[in-house]
Amino acid sequence: MTVGRYPATRLRRNRQDDFTRRLVAEHRLHVDDLIWPIFFTEGAATETEVASMPGVRRVTLDRLAAHVEPAARLGIPALALFPMTPPERRDAEGTEAGNPDNLICRAARLLKAEFPQLGLIGDVALDPYTDHGHDGVFRDGVIDNDDTVGLLVRQSLNQAAAGIDVLAPSDMMDGRIGAIRAALDAERLIHVRLMSYAAKYASAFYGPFRDALGSGGLLRGDKRTYQMDPANGDEALREVELDLLEGADMVMVKPGMPYLDIIRRVRDRFAVPTFAYQVSGEYAMIMAAAGHGWIDRDRAMMESLLAFKRAGASGVLTYFAPDAARMLRGA
Ligand code: PBG
Repeated sequence: MTVGRYPATRLRRNRQDDFTRRLVAEHRLHVDDLIWPIFFTEGAATETEVASMPGVRRVTLDRLAAHVEPAARLGIPALALFPMTPPERRDAEGTEAGNPDNLICRAARLLKAEFPQLGLIGDVALDPYTDHGHDGVFRDGVIDNDDTVGLLVRQSLNQAAAGIDVLAPSDMMDGRIGAIRAALDAERLIHVRLMSYAAKYASAFYGPFRDALGSGGLLRGDKRTYQMDPANGDEALREVELDLLEGADMVMVKPGMPYLDIIRRVRDRFAVPTFAYQVSGEYAMIMAAAGHGWIDRDRAMMESLLAFKRAGASGVLTYFAPDAARMLRGA
């Protein structure tokens, strides 16, 4: 190995100047690594800041193109779309998920027409549409896996028909990737990509997101019968393996920073496109500390994003995407 001995070897030498630091940097963050999750809702001419996510706005559809334009101009490759469904459109089965004119479908058509080069990632799960806030349907008091999968297939075909490029199932039901892939193939939708939330943990860090979509107050109980136990790492590899066998093109680990070890293990084991989701609570922590003047927001933002690359992530879903892209472009 390349081990030297002090004083002939001094690792501080390469840190002395900006130019050597740049030359020896092992990892780099690029605008191409960023996916921006966005929130939108019904109504008109309204932008609402999410209280627990300073700087993140939920916009009405008429404002969506203007909201997204800076990200498109900065060259961010893709958006992850999260609709906030009004309470009167929610029911026990999440029926609205299959409506061809639901919010996400209208948003997809609008964005495809306006920004054809921008990738659209659709959230596949029932929680934005259920009146109980769960990602699946109840049968006899439990979230029924196989009934839910059928509804997710319907939701997926609906989104694909509206122009969603990448379906991203975030529900953690067993077998949904295979079922969705088979349905897409049967429709000859062979280019629709699947980015599986393969290792998604039952996490406290989703709190602000549920505020943003209005599903937090509705949620009965917790999601521990389908999302993963934070204690488990080997199980994440099994989840990823199953999803790859079932036809996932890309996999995701979520949340991000508390699970960097999982990203590294997935990347090392499978060598497939692996994404990290820096979730709402991670964003909120950085923004809250920065808001108090306790940490430097820009540096914490860039350091946290670079850490995902070092851990082996292909890219990161982050609410910081436009700000990070601006810094990377020197704009
Ligand atoms: C639910 C979903 C969640 C997030 C994305 N999709 C929350 C949950 O599982 O309750 C969280 C994203 C974030 O916290 O930023 N299908």
